[in-house]
Amino acid sequence: MRLKDTELTAQELKDMVDKYMVETYERYDFIAERAEGMYIYDEEGNAYLDFYGGVAVNSPGNRNERVIAAIKDQLDDIVHTFNYPYTIPQALLAKKICDTIGMDKIFYQNSGTEANECMIKMARKYGTDNFGPDRYHIITAKNGFHGRTYGAMAATGQPDTAVQEGFGAMLPGFSYAQFNNLADFASKVTENTIAVMIEPVQGEGGVHPATQEFVEGLRRLCDEHGMLLLFDEVQTGWGRTGAPMAYMGYGVKPDAVSMAKAMGGGMPIGACCAVEKVANAFTAGAHGSTYGGHALACAAAYASVSEIIDNNLSENADEMGRYMKKQLAKLPHVREARGRGLLVGCEYDIPIAAEVKHGCLDRMVLITAIGDSVNRMIPPLIVTKKQIDKLIRIMRAAITDAAARYYAMDLAS
Ligand SMILES: Cc1ncc(COP(=O)(O)O)c(C=O)c1O
Repeated sequence: MRLKDTELTAQELKDMVDKYMVETYERYDFIAERAEGMYIYDEEGNAYLDFYGGVAVNSPGNRNERVIAAIKDQLDDIVHTFNYPYTIPQALLAKKICDTIGMDKIFYQNSGTEANECMIKMARKYGTDNFGPDRYHIITAKNGFHGRTYGAMAATGQPDTAVQEGFGAMLPGFSYAQFNNLADFASKVTENTIAVMIEPVQGEGGVHPATQEFVEGLRRLCDEHGMLLLFDEVQTGWGRTGAPMAYMGYGVKPDAVSMAKAMGGGMPIGACCAVEKVANAFTAGAHGSTYGGHALACAAAYASVSEIIDNNLSENADEMGRYMKKQLAKLPHVREARGRGLLVGCEYDIPIAAEVKHGCLDRMVLITAIGDSVNRMIPPLIVTKKQIDKLIRIMRAAITDAAARYYAMDLAS
């Protein structure tokens, strides 16, 4: 849809959103009307360089040609069916994903949070089926993020933030340990613990990669106690960290993994993959989804995953991520540039992340801010050095302005 076809002005459209939509998002003041590759265009045709990637979704590029062609092709045949007949996109996608990442089975969902619900339920059911009714507890990481539905919210180790606050009692059975602290995870294990669940790189929590020792240590801990290792790869999955799945880069295989975002290349889809013994916990009636495995979403996901693998976009993510970190580290006020692949965080020595984000937006580059002092860059995996150089130039200007304002305010107060 284009604004010119609606007979509304840009301001009238924005006012309509303010009036009718429940807003939990701080809106950027532009209308995203079209997108292509590394760019999003507003209603006047202005191009925004996209280091946001639809929140790590548009990994093969905005409106990737192969994904769009697959959607158009599938539209001519079937859009949605119920989950009882076989469908071709479901079957092809299941084999492609399981073969690529070394898992036995997949269960389709519609989003990241649902993929995590599925993984949490699978682990709990595996625990109670095999070890008795109390063995369903899961240890997750403090400052992690797993989604907004009740199981995923409870798994999110942020009891003092807006994710959990004000919603009453959380789903029982979760305890939180310090990320990258194996001893703390070990200390939380009880006879009722069935699993440990982490993000290989904490994304929403400020871009903190797990250390190699931590990931290997968690695998050992789980094996010693007969527990499952669960990875939330909703943000890290499908090439972002420099390997198809982040765990493949660590060389440590979990018992189950959740995925979404890049999987669909822009279409809403998620999934949980598991090794056979865990997947077997789900029998008829134990779980289900009307839309999970939607033909259009699966066709798009088959194209997205194939595009990422066939073009080795994880290698570009690795190379460009290293380059971006090196360049970011040279900018003023940068305390640390960190991350894995193209999940990159830039931490400052003063609280200017929101200002820098807006400074970049004013200069038509899209980045995100996490908390007061971290900006996160999660571009499509097709990004080039030249585009990173532009990001760096613009961030330098935005940081300089933000720092000047910060010190002016500091002196005034
Ligand atoms: C690691 C992780 N898990 C789960 C989610 C939730 O995904 P969704 O917003 O698709 O429900 C996110 C979203 O950012 C995420 O980063």
